[in-house]
Amino acid sequence: MLDETGGLDEALDMAAQHHSPEVVQGIQRGLAESREIEAIVRALDGRYIVPSSGGDLIRNPKSVPTGRNLHGLNPALVPSAYAFDQARKTAELLIARAVEDTGRFPESIGLVLWGTDNLKTDGEAIGQVFALLGVEPLVDDLGRVHDVRLVPLEELGRPRIDVVATASGIFRDIFANHLELLDRAFRLVAEADEPLDRNFVRKHTLAMAAELEIGFEEAAHRVFSNAAGVYGTNVNFAIENRAWTTEDDLARIFQSRKSFVYGRGIAGREAEQLFERALATVDVTFQNVDSLEMGLTDVDHYTEYLGGMTKAVEHIRGGQPAAYVGDFLMPNGKVRSVAEMVALETRTKTLNPRWFEGMLAHGYEGAREIESHVTNTFGWSATCRAVPAWVYDGVAETYALDAEILARLREANPHAAAGLVGRLLEANTRGYWAPAAPVLEQLKAYYLDLEAAAEG
Ligand code: BEZ
Ligand code: MG
Repeated sequence: MLDETGGLDEALDMAAQHHSPEVVQGIQRGLAESREIEAIVRALDGRYIVPSSGGDLIRNPKSVPTGRNLHGLNPALVPSAYAFDQARKTAELLIARAVEDTGRFPESIGLVLWGTDNLKTDGEAIGQVFALLGVEPLVDDLGRVHDVRLVPLEELGRPRIDVVATASGIFRDIFANHLELLDRAFRLVAEADEPLDRNFVRKHTLAMAAELEIGFEEAAHRVFSNAAGVYGTNVNFAIENRAWTTEDDLARIFQSRKSFVYGRGIAGREAEQLFERALATVDVTFQNVDSLEMGLTDVDHYTEYLGGMTKAVEHIRGGQPAAYVGDFLMPNGKVRSVAEMVALETRTKTLNPRWFEGMLAHGYEGAREIESHVTNTFGWSATCRAVPAWVYDGVAETYALDAEILARLREANPHAAAGLVGRLLEANTRGYWAPAAPVLEQLKAYYLDLEAAAEG
């Protein structure tokens, strides 16, 4: 958080928007304390380390000083009141953006649930699902979330939006009780006797039950993840290793990994047909981005989840859903399209000399990081067609056609240099980028040379 905002002053300014001056001073004191080394030495001695709740510094000022035994969360308090409040705002922003782009209410949103962002935010993404459905968490006298209730349609002021929740294996393991709570929320909404044009969950559930000739209860499943004990979508590995022929392969890989239902005592029953039929209703996909520091081009996991789901919907429906990300760790968070986010990250990182010079200064690993950004960017072509030509033009000009940079990249990490140029060529052969013929010839020549050097 400190890095992405530029420094301590900005972080403290942000804290001041949420907290009293006394609390902000507490954060400042906590940050100034340095207990890490002392605590590690104590731990190695087998001595007691004082515990504390952790998480995002601004949301939980108690997470400093560090050097204590920080624990992730108390699941009974998720989503917190603050998280649900934020989630409601995000849900409305997302719906408004989708309406602006597509001209109508989304009927169903494919939403990715990860462990990390829900840990950091005390369950904002879980709260977003509730908010889209038009339900509220019910809290007992001790502040524990134990159930949900319907927000009346008049109060909601819009239709209940259906959601297909795709949970990571990590989310499934950490938030097991929330899989049940989410499932309860879907059933509550599906069973509400309301007009079908105001309750898309009920509308889709009735249609699915009729079409697939299954019971209403079966058709109300919306919580999907991997089989028990299994993690990840494998879409990222397929992309990295060129282990796919058509984009439909990526969709099928995603579907086969994620088509296991959870909830009502069911812990991962295979339900391929159900998942496919639920995805067929999706017109918008969405995932929260943890922070600008770990964005769409930094890791391959957003591509494997949000990208994979978007491709699966396209494969099933025949048209690409609108794909969005949300960055709400900042008070002025935003919903952006995947294409906007890829463009933003390309300008601020991949093509920014301050970023790549920093990476090159790190030698082998820095060069690998550059190559990895290019591959992750390519992943947004393969899954969402969200990468315009200027991005590939820029990568080619910056890293391959600039002899000095190419030499430094190659010197630092010959595999990364060959990989980067190879990925540009792959973008061309897969139809995502059509550079001028001389550029293409140049890249091919470099590639042969770099490959030979990397092998030798
Ligand atoms: C998560 O659930 O937090 C997660 C899943 C896949 C990759 C990274 C994080
Ligand atoms: Mg990884």
